[in-house]
Amino acid sequence: MPLSFDMDEQLVQRLADEIDTNGFAKLSAAVTAPDLEQLRAWTDEQAQKHQGEYFAYHGEAMLSESLLASYWSDPRFKSLLGGLYRHAAKTDAASDRIFPVLRCVQGNQGKRESNSFHYDASLVTALIPVFIPTEGEERGDLMLFPNMRRVRAWVLFNVIEKALLQNTFTRRWIIKGMQRDWLKPYVLRLEPGNVYFFWGYRTLHANRACSPEVKRATALFHFGDPHTGSLATRLILRINQGRARRMSNKAGNQPPASTPS
Ligand SMILES: [Fe+2]
Repeated sequence: MPLSFDMDEQLVQRLADEIDTNGFAKLSAAVTAPDLEQLRAWTDEQAQKHQGEYFAYHGEAMLSESLLASYWSDPRFKSLLGGLYRHAAKTDAASDRIFPVLRCVQGNQGKRESNSFHYDASLVTALIPVFIPTEGEERGDLMLFPNMRRVRAWVLFNVIEKALLQNTFTRRWIIKGMQRDWLKPYVLRLEPGNVYFFWGYRTLHANRACSPEVKRATALFHFGDPHTGSLATRLILRINQGRARRMSNKAGNQPPASTPS
């Protein structure tokens, strides 16, 4: 079943305004209970193949047998994401393709993949919680520093900015800053059944750590790369793919999310 919502311009406007004001927007009860059950069963099956360790599936080919395919191929969902992109970028996206990711944080490796602050390459990010731990301190909540930057006119500036932020050294400082209360991200407790939206390109984000014994799974839908086709974008893709291959060889795992949420 596709996502449950009535697509119209008013909805796009409401969600876009909420993202601009609060850093995120929520579409309540858009994932039906039977859909959620089916998504969880499929995710569980995949999680077992990875022996309780972190995995991420990127792209349509990896996820075509999951229910997520009925979401990313839904013209209403494309139109919603396209409308949000238009609102934020003041122009149409170069492509109406939605790039899906399923990310499952569990086990000890999952801890290493947490607190991994980054900007997405795509402007609009939709997030569907599949499994969210409800117990304990470490539930893997989504942390956001909302709308920190604009869409960069120069792709090179975007690349330099990402390189300065998305490295081990800076991430350690961000974590230290949060521990000492110098930096206070907005902490969003995700509730399964809802769909969440934010400007992934403009918002520095990461998930909080999860206890190794719990499972946190989210489906992500990336839409609209403001720098589509640029040399820098192609280079970043090649670097990410290289990293993914190395991680796969090391862990016997699927490629890691280059855009974790
Ligand atoms: Fe992300």
